[in-house]
Amino acid sequence: MRISHRRIPVTGPHAQAMGGLHSPDDGRIHIKAWCLSGSASARKARALLRSRIAGHLTDEAVLGDLDLMICELTANAHRHAEGPREMRILYHEGIPVIYEIADAGGDLDLIVQRLRLHSGQAEIGTIDDIDALQIGGRGLGIVARLSGGRCGAYTTRLCGTGQPGKSVWFALPVKHAPN
Ligand SMILES: Nc1ncnc2c1ncn2[C@@H]1O[C@H](COP(=O)(O)OP(=O)(O)OP(=O)(O)O)[C@@H](O)[C@H]1O
Ligand SMILES: [Mg+2]
Repeated sequence: MRISHRRIPVTGPHAQAMGGLHSPDDGRIHIKAWCLSGSASARKARALLRSRIAGHLTDEAVLGDLDLMICELTANAHRHAEGPREMRILYHEGIPVIYEIADAGGDLDLIVQRLRLHSGQAEIGTIDDIDALQIGGRGLGIVARLSGGRCGAYTTRLCGTGQPGKSVWFALPVKHAPN
């Protein structure tokens, strides 16, 4: 992991990502992003999230679930996508509420479909759906299950380089500030 984080205003897709928090343009929601590089990036990403979420979340079982989800998304970004890659935390009024891994690769639709299917938010209606469930691994299913379906993916530009890419996110189980 290298370079500093950037603080940028949050727009469009995050309104959905934030669930009930429909205030992406009022300055109360911010993203911080860190570049992920090297074989130890999952370990560093876990440590970074733990340091950022300390004080908001202390349940070790829940933190263990977050570690696992981070591992799966980091592994996917390294294995299936092109770099650069970055980890991001969305803050709502200073509280970390969304975690995501962004990369410069494609396959957004496949990821969205898999997350929705594993979250029980889509019915298996086509051959494509069946293929999406049966071919491949378990990582996105783990993320869907452990996040309670509060997860997704969307197109984005990397904060560090401005390249087009996508981000895969899950919600952090902290209390949201009231709207
Ligand atoms: N960041 C990504 N970029 C591009 N494609 C991805 C990304 N993450 C997942 N995918 C696609 O979604 C599929 C399912 O991902 P998932 O993590 O569930 O399984 P896997 O990585 O293939 O295997 P496992 O996680 O069990 O080792 C992948 O095989 C890949 O085709
Ligand atoms: Mg995987």
